[in-house]
Amino acid sequence: MTPSSDQRIAVVGLGYVGLPLAIAFTEAGLQVEGIDANGPRVAELAAAHSPIDDISDQRLATALADGLSVAEPPSAHLADADVVFVCVPTPITRSKDPDLGPVLNAATLIREHLREGQLVVLQSTTFPGTTSGPFREELERSGLVAGRDFDLAFAPERVNPGDPASAAKGVPRLVGATSQAATSRAAALLRCINDNVIELSSPDAAELAKLLENVFRNVNIALVNQLALLCERMGLDVWEVIDAAATKPFGFMRFTPGPGVGGHCIPVDPYYLAWRAREFDFIDRFVELAGDINFAMPRHVVDLVAEALNERGRALRGARIGVLGVAFKPNVRDARNSPAADVIAGLIGRGANVVYHDPHVPTFRDVTGTRHESQPLDDVLAADAVVVVTAHKAVDMDDVYARADLVVDTVNSSGGRDVRPRQVLRLGAGWSGG
Ligand SMILES: NC(=O)c1ccc[n+]([C@@H]2O[C@H](COP(=O)([O-])OP(=O)(O)OC[C@H]3O[C@@H](n4cnc5c(N)ncnc54)[C@H](O)[C@@H]3O)[C@@H](O)[C@H]2O)c1
Repeated sequence: MTPSSDQRIAVVGLGYVGLPLAIAFTEAGLQVEGIDANGPRVAELAAAHSPIDDISDQRLATALADGLSVAEPPSAHLADADVVFVCVPTPITRSKDPDLGPVLNAATLIREHLREGQLVVLQSTTFPGTTSGPFREELERSGLVAGRDFDLAFAPERVNPGDPASAAKGVPRLVGATSQAATSRAAALLRCINDNVIELSSPDAAELAKLLENVFRNVNIALVNQLALLCERMGLDVWEVIDAAATKPFGFMRFTPGPGVGGHCIPVDPYYLAWRAREFDFIDRFVELAGDINFAMPRHVVDLVAEALNERGRALRGARIGVLGVAFKPNVRDARNSPAADVIAGLIGRGANVVYHDPHVPTFRDVTGTRHESQPLDDVLAADAVVVVTAHKAVDMDDVYARADLVVDTVNSSGGRDVRPRQVLRLGAGWSGG
């Protein structure tokens, strides 16, 4: 079945996932309405100001000119849509249990306008059983029944913000629905924007495949983080070891250690699986262990800063520490769940005065809620010690290593550079430069 270009698409949730999706369908010639509960975000989008790095203002403006409309809930025309995609957040609570609040709120919104023949596609990362369980139940409170009156599918997203290749049409998409017909219908639609759509037997399989991808990443990051700690004790350089192992052309995938994990996915999604597993009297020990290791990394970074200052005969208390980069990864402005929030709070908690510089993140809250403002690079480089948490391309690292007196490098940004003796303490490797 080839979807006709007069199909009307609604996308609920216009963030890192929903906005590119809405624009991709618009560019494919379909009629798209984007809906977001955040009024200021809708106003920003309507004025062609893109809040995310991968969508330029120009591309958004073109999509708006080509018919993309954006609205807040009461004024949205959900009943007009043939297909509704849901791309709202799936956070965890403080005790690391899934918080389906946004997903269920979106389902309530759709339910109020649900009509026969519609297809609803959940795209938010979640535990197996969400689409066919609580999401479906909320939609069916309309009196309509999934599989009989409307179609229901799950199609996870694989976009990797800051990495344009991940948004390419050739990156395969998965889809599983509550019936074979619904799977085929959702897949046919996704083929308007993607050349490689893979149909699965159920939404649960698609939900678990997405979680496997993220758990795989989290576990492998934990593995190299643990190795980094061991290398520090052994006097080995974990970066050299990883590069060496990565020369094997099969059976090995390169992951790198760092100050911790951040973003919406890796620190969050694995707990959706662990929570669901407990319902089956099953403890997902990989998820728990990887979380323990990765969430302990910011504290280790604070210890490294104390160790580096100790080398200069100084205490962390009263020292001025410059944090370089607070986004959760290079070259993006996304600072959600960034390990920098723990590093900064940990440094302050041990009596340090902290300034940060990030060309992409003008203001930042640490985990205590304290708000910080990005300071000029010069202020950070003049600190008693600089901690490199995120090395953006926009920051000249040659300049950093030429001017900073003492650096704790958590991401190997100094690797391969000439640095002064006892200038750089590298995570997973110890002192560089003799
Ligand atoms: N960011 C990524 O790299 C990425 C990649 C793959 C999958 N995902 C998954 O996609 C989902 C969305 O993530 P994101 O990064 O786009 O989130 P986001 O926070 O960037 O965007 C979500 C948007 O949904 C809106 N929203 C929340 N509740 C709503 C509601 N009830 N009705 C209408 N709008 C609502 C918010 O205002 C926000 O603009 C999550 O489940 C995430 O795990 C994210």
